[in-house]
Amino acid sequence: MALRRVLCFCIKRLHWTTTRAIWRSSFCSKIAFCFLLGLVVLSYRELIRAEQRYEKFVYREFQDPERDSFLYGTFPSNFSWGVATAAYQIEGAWNEDGKGPSIWDTFTHTPGRTYNNQTGDVTCDSYHRYEDDIAIMKEMGMKHYRFSIAWSRVFPDGTRNRINMAGVDYYHKLIDGLLAAGIQPMVTLYHWDLPQALQDMGGWDNDIMAVHFDNYADFCFNEYGSKVKLWITFNEPYVFTKVGLETGVHAPGLKHQGTTVYRAAHNVLKAHAKAWHTYNDRYRSTQKGKCGITLNCSWGQAATDSEEDKAAADRYMQFGFGWFAHPIFVNGDYPEVIKDKVMKKSLAQGLTTSRLPEFTEEEKQLLKGTSDFLGANYYTAVYVSAKERQAMPPGFFKDQDFMTTDDENWPTSGAGWMRPVPWGFRKFLNWINENFNKPVIYITENGVAEHSEDEPMFEDTWRIQYLTSHVNEMLKAYTLDGIDIRGYTYWSLMDNLEWAEGYASRFGLYYVDFKNPKRPRLPKESASVYAKVIRNNGFPEPASGMLW
Ligand code: GAL
Repeated sequence: MALRRVLCFCIKRLHWTTTRAIWRSSFCSKIAFCFLLGLVVLSYRELIRAEQRYEKFVYREFQDPERDSFLYGTFPSNFSWGVATAAYQIEGAWNEDGKGPSIWDTFTHTPGRTYNNQTGDVTCDSYHRYEDDIAIMKEMGMKHYRFSIAWSRVFPDGTRNRINMAGVDYYHKLIDGLLAAGIQPMVTLYHWDLPQALQDMGGWDNDIMAVHFDNYADFCFNEYGSKVKLWITFNEPYVFTKVGLETGVHAPGLKHQGTTVYRAAHNVLKAHAKAWHTYNDRYRSTQKGKCGITLNCSWGQAATDSEEDKAAADRYMQFGFGWFAHPIFVNGDYPEVIKDKVMKKSLAQGLTTSRLPEFTEEEKQLLKGTSDFLGANYYTAVYVSAKERQAMPPGFFKDQDFMTTDDENWPTSGAGWMRPVPWGFRKFLNWINENFNKPVIYITENGVAEHSEDEPMFEDTWRIQYLTSHVNEMLKAYTLDGIDIRGYTYWSLMDNLEWAEGYASRFGLYYVDFKNPKRPRLPKESASVYAKVIRNNGFPEPASGMLW
């Protein structure tokens, strides 16, 4: 603003007498004057445009200019920009070429489970159209692509007894296509689609799952590891255990409150550790890749400054994120606050031991340090206040003794469960950094949806605002707070099956027409804005001459 005022002042001062003096001067002086005048006009226009762009970052709903002001700056040259998808949400071909059914096939084929009974039978048809996906990523200048392998496409019954070579080849073709386009594959082994045959054995509640998962991971490392350098064992175990086994709104749709969720999470952690050790012992030295896990949580902001609410907010983060991050990144065991809360509630329920399982000393040693990086997913924030919950009947949420609210003034989005809160992103990253020994972080998901049945909404200003403001908060976390963030991944490349919420919740940079058999992918405006962010590696100062 100050610079703009100075420029205005200078322009006004160029009055007639000065101009006449210059006109009478030599030819060279005239040229020099015209050149200088041109520069002044250009810089002025640039400043105005920069201010207009700045406006786009500011959510007027948030009234804290110091916290929410925009920061110019760029990331290091090896920073990786990407997009994410997941197999069940985009592949389709649910029963083709020897693929076995997963719990999501069973779930969506059960009437009443999903929005308008929508299924992933065809979805974006990426099983047949993966080349289209690669082409649009290449066009945006993507550096990495986070996708997941459908376990039951490779092992139809979940075990290594039967290998489906057509499925194995599909991922080879996808990976080869990506590498040819200069895009690094970032592969998630488990993005929620457990083979149905394993669910029939009890699913994650059965500790034998750790062995089956390890066999599957071992197979994938061996098969694809010469080409894949970034592996993620699990996506958001907090979500798939909670909504799959506690509330039942996701596959496999169980409502075993306050029990199965803890046992399943325990087995998932053991499965993760086993797979990481397999990578570490058998593949790391030759393949030279990294193996991590993706965890998520909304940012829990204490509703007031009271000690009770601050403790409740920390508890919210520990139950959501620390539940998995603490064993892996701190000491092989759950956070004390979780152990304490679940034990107290269990005793109050007349039990003699906690519903939260315990790790043996050996298991703790096996778990500790089993992640080369932390994949972090962030979407939104909530206010948290302390609230004592009754012990009976048991429940995962009741163990936590808090309540959450959001702020009516925060902007809304097309997904009912989230409001964009960019400042929460920076706080979330700082909290992770402080609590889990400053891990190397990849943002593995961040994004926003519009709600639309079929109608394309190409002018997605809300996504442009969401994306740029969140990337800007990440820039602050990187530059001002010194957090070791190595990459950012937007969710999602294109509209896809948003699990139980179906196709109307559209998170894509590309619109997908699900009525058209060819499933065309058409860019929304945000796709070109993200491409600019990637090209400029952030938001260079306007004076650098690079427009973001
Ligand atoms: C995440 C999930 C993704 C996607 C996204 C948007 O929790 O990992 O698969 O659905 O949410 O809601």
